[in-house]
Amino acid sequence: MGQKALTIKQAHFTMIKIGIAGASGYTGLELIRLLVQHPDVELAVLTSETFQGQNIAEVFPSLNGVVDLKLQPLDDSIVKECEVLFLALPHTTAMAKLPVYLQSGCKVIDLSADYRLKDPKAYPDWYSVTHTHPELLKQAVYGLPELHRESIQSARFIANPGCYPTSVILALAPLLKTEWVDLNSIISDSKSGVSGAGRKPSLTTHFTEANEGVSPYGLAEHRHTPEMEQEISNLAGKPVRVTFSPHLIPMTRGMLSTVYINLNQTLTDEKLVEHYREFYKGESFIRVLNPGKFASSHHVLSSNFCDIGLKVDSRNQRLIITSAIDNLIKGASGQAIQNMNIMLGLDEKTGLMAPGIFP
Ligand SMILES: NC(=O)c1ccc[n+]([C@@H]2O[C@H](COP(=O)([O-])OP(=O)(O)OC[C@H]3O[C@@H](n4cnc5c(N)ncnc54)[C@H](OP(=O)(O)O)[C@@H]3O)[C@@H](O)[C@H]2O)c1
Repeated sequence: MGQKALTIKQAHFTMIKIGIAGASGYTGLELIRLLVQHPDVELAVLTSETFQGQNIAEVFPSLNGVVDLKLQPLDDSIVKECEVLFLALPHTTAMAKLPVYLQSGCKVIDLSADYRLKDPKAYPDWYSVTHTHPELLKQAVYGLPELHRESIQSARFIANPGCYPTSVILALAPLLKTEWVDLNSIISDSKSGVSGAGRKPSLTTHFTEANEGVSPYGLAEHRHTPEMEQEISNLAGKPVRVTFSPHLIPMTRGMLSTVYINLNQTLTDEKLVEHYREFYKGESFIRVLNPGKFASSHHVLSSNFCDIGLKVDSRNQRLIITSAIDNLIKGASGQAIQNMNIMLGLDEKTGLMAPGIFP
């Protein structure tokens, strides 16, 4: 029996070997930071093109004395060295390589959008690419554990959700099978810290451009829209559209989505909080706030939690939902580790229960 076929009971004696492609990026660093504290895994392979040959601690001095591994180029042979491979790469970088990684027996968790959308025709429309492996889109499980835990348990390949979709889908999911809301009226006004755009510098993320200002971008055409609509429509059992307005705000990390939806009937904050708590019963990372409390990025910073606050605007018969996450943790690397834990049959919370950093 090969090492990749080890049961979890056996694996307790041998640490599970982890590869991170794109270890020199922001989500790569978060994976490293969280996984070094995980009791069941060890880092085996880290990749970077720009910094290949250098020690990861030279690239990120915060890892000095904690991780001692050289960065290597992204090459097909890396899968021989690991049992779980995280792809923390820009969209389309590894799209064509998925069959090679999967054939090796590795479990793959892709943080990019390459396999999130089920409809291959959506890729030319939203990502300006023709999908190289449309046949694999069905096999990729959309890795939002609160909605797809059972499929994740048996998956070999996870398409880890985007940060904005995580905050918006979790905000809306409990409502989608009720008759309480008008599904034609969803608007999400969302704000992201600058790390959401990754480490590679660009004009919009330049300090002078991003600091001391709030800027909308991608209005009505952001790439995360089809991902939200796919999941929300599946839950509702019919096509649902979202008006999505993302904003860049001058903070390093954190994300807040304020979601508006019209109510079909009179409801109270208390009734909604009770319903959300029932829907998310047993979910370790969803915190439905008490009536009258609003979610804030402050309270989830550097954590895997998603805080959800509910407020009925009774004058306008509308519900306002606030949903806060850390874009790099529940919006990316923390959620990826949550998926890994589920795939490996480990306690889903392992390595992820640290509360947010405040102040
Ligand atoms: N940032 C977020 O909040 C967030 C949230 C959810 C999902 N995501 C997704 O997660 C993925 C990674 O995002 P990130 O923010 O970590 O990006 P990032 O900071 O820009 O890091 C990208 C990583 O990919 C590597 N890379 C770039 N081009 C490559 C190529 N052609 N071949 C091999 N490696 C290459 C880079 O390595 P070198 O430059 O050192 O070669 C770097 O390690 C993206 O798909 C992103 O959309 C990000």
